[in-house]
Amino acid sequence: MLTLRKATGQDSDLLYNWRNDPVTRHASHDTSEISRDRHEAWLAASFANPHRLIFIAEERGRPVGTVRVDHGSDGTAELSWTVAPDARGEGVATRMVRLVVDDISRGCPVRAEIKAGNDASVKVAEAAGMRLFTEDRGVLHFYREASSTRMQSRR
Ligand SMILES: CC(C)(COP(=O)(O)OP(=O)(O)OC[C@H]1O[C@@H](n2cnc3c(N)ncnc32)[C@H](O)[C@@H]1OP(=O)(O)O)[C@@H](O)C(=O)NCCC(=O)NCCS
Repeated sequence: MLTLRKATGQDSDLLYNWRNDPVTRHASHDTSEISRDRHEAWLAASFANPHRLIFIAEERGRPVGTVRVDHGSDGTAELSWTVAPDARGEGVATRMVRLVVDDISRGCPVRAEIKAGNDASVKVAEAAGMRLFTEDRGVLHFYREASSTRMQSRR
């Protein structure tokens, strides 16, 4: 079973390694290799940012992926995800993003930006109920409305 927990400073190494993995870099807006100093500054700023949450997904105690959630001023939560290189192709992203979206979208809409050609992430976004609403300069913009029915059915 996949579980989510909030990232802590002890996750710095694995987040750094996942971020600099060549496949992750290729899928990122900024494809440059990140220095350790830049990573530490980014992580510290992320933990201090009340609008940002970083989750670590674990399976049987093993960290297998991460989802970053940024709550925008318009009420939409922007999601970004990465799966550990040695855990890819096992359905981790599909389950991990769905878990986060199902939880968050009870309160607000969610969106994600995916580079065109990242077919696996397109499937992940669609499996979480997001739909393509526009494409701009090679970036696909996915969106899912807040789910009020789900909220009511859980009361
Ligand atoms: C993209 C990524 C998140 C996918 O994670 P994953 O756990 O391997 O994905 P899943 O196993 O859940 O697979 C999702 C779907 O994509 C398909 N898929 C997996 N790898 C694929 C690939 N290289 N090309 C095309 N489809 C692929 C799977 O078959 C599955 O399809 P299905 O739902 O029809 O069965 C992972 O490769 C990754 O971390 N890449 C680098 C970072 C990244 O791209 N982040 C997203 C930025 S928007």
